[in-house]
Amino acid sequence: MDEEEKEKWIRAGRIGKEVREYAASIVRPDMKMLDLAIKIEEKFYSLGAKLAFPPNLSINDLAAHYSPKFDDQLILRKGDTLKIDIGASIDGCLSDTATTVVVGEKSTPLVDASREALENVVKIIKPGMNIDIIGETIEKTIRDRGFSPIVNLGGHGLTKYNVHEGEFIPNVNQSSGKKLRSEGVVAVEPFATTGNGYVIDSTPGEIFMFQSKRSIRDKVARDILDYIESEYRTLPFSRRWIIDKFGKVANYALDVLVNSKALYRFPVLKEESGGIVSQFEHTFLFDKGEVIVTTA
Ligand code: CO
Repeated sequence: MDEEEKEKWIRAGRIGKEVREYAASIVRPDMKMLDLAIKIEEKFYSLGAKLAFPPNLSINDLAAHYSPKFDDQLILRKGDTLKIDIGASIDGCLSDTATTVVVGEKSTPLVDASREALENVVKIIKPGMNIDIIGETIEKTIRDRGFSPIVNLGGHGLTKYNVHEGEFIPNVNQSSGKKLRSEGVVAVEPFATTGNGYVIDSTPGEIFMFQSKRSIRDKVARDILDYIESEYRTLPFSRRWIIDKFGKVANYALDVLVNSKALYRFPVLKEESGGIVSQFEHTFLFDKGEVIVTTA
């Protein structure tokens, strides 16, 4: 990786960390989820970054991919377990980082379990290492505290303008024998739950991503797709951002684009047995044998 590019990945990480800490510090009982999302977005812009993906603000048994809609009415309640999963983009160089807060309260053992799992990964992670060892470390830490790791969520590689590319890094030892990349960027994200440890698709969410080139007859939908391709490329984006730009006609246009498979719409992910879910995440940069935790 050349120095200029490396600097951008590191800066994306530093901004991700700063926004994560800022977001966790402003969470209050009775706060609107929409207000939290907007404050997070404004913070990224004020620090000179774009977002790698819409803020994922998932509570309780929702594990990931909840992001508020333009007229969202959801209000955070004291005791909600809130995952804040966010990332910065600097010219497509990305970060992906998460923390969990219990609204209006101190941490819980469930939250401590995923935090400690990530801390244990930070201690052992090496470029090109056996992925099973990471899974085993996460699984053991979480099970020792009496919780379950989520088996079908996990870390992933990142490349320019791609939040998920290459290896999947499970939260359990799958005895796959697979290796982590030895150069480049990965994110590791331990998820712990009081439930069985498996997520399923819930309702359709507010996060979308370019999927494939399609010829679109509808003029408005075509214009919106052109905008998406130039503004977000292959990064996920929020329906709310498109409504801000194009007005409510975007609702219908995005439906057209999803139905024609030009766009993919992410479903909200929910713990199958209704267990509460906690999550922590860091981004790691491997460069010539060196490990940099960009979001630490
Ligand atoms: Co991630």
